[in-house]
Amino acid sequence: RAKVGVLISGRGSNMEALIRAAEAPDCPFEIALVVSNKPEAAGLDKARAAGVTALAIDGKPFGKDREAHEKAIDAALRAAGCEYVALAGYMRILTPWLVEAWAGRMINIHPSLLPKYPGLDTHGRALAAGDVEAGCTVHLVTSGVDEGPILGQARAPILPGDDEAALTARVLAEEHKLFAKCLADLVRG
Ligand code: GAR
Repeated sequence: RAKVGVLISGRGSNMEALIRAAEAPDCPFEIALVVSNKPEAAGLDKARAAGVTALAIDGKPFGKDREAHEKAIDAALRAAGCEYVALAGYMRILTPWLVEAWAGRMINIHPSLLPKYPGLDTHGRALAAGDVEAGCTVHLVTSGVDEGPILGQARAPILPGDDEAALTARVLAEEHKLFAKCLADLVRG
């Protein structure tokens, strides 16, 4: 099974979905390591509770030297034998160095139907625009933020009376299914 490292910054529900998917005997990947750039990320304890090694590699001590921070993360991923990287709510923009190091083997999940709404506050913007549909995208990571080749998308309706919490929950349920499917497709080639 292909070894995957998962990068997180917070809650880690997409990370958990990947860990659960990897429990299926026919799943082509396993989660070898979880790394958070935030020591307080709730996802770290969730990973450990599921028996997955989880490290905090804080960005703060590296200050503005993002590449040095990434080199520490990259070293941890390689030491764990990772062949692929999944960004699961990793909220730091990557430098070209890390993007190139994992080209074709790093994927991201984003809570919109790209190319609509790259960046932050995707659901707030969709609601403000009066959209009738939202969704999520899994894509290969390239140096343009939220721009890489799309591996899959899932849609969710925006219903009358939706607030951000309701829409977030509806899209998140789709994210959890889509991420594992796209990762499995990628590692199967
Ligand atoms: C998810 O909705 C993910 O799509 C989004 O952050 C959330 C993380 O939740 N990612 C981005 O916005 C990336 N720019 P999680 O920690 O529960 O998986």
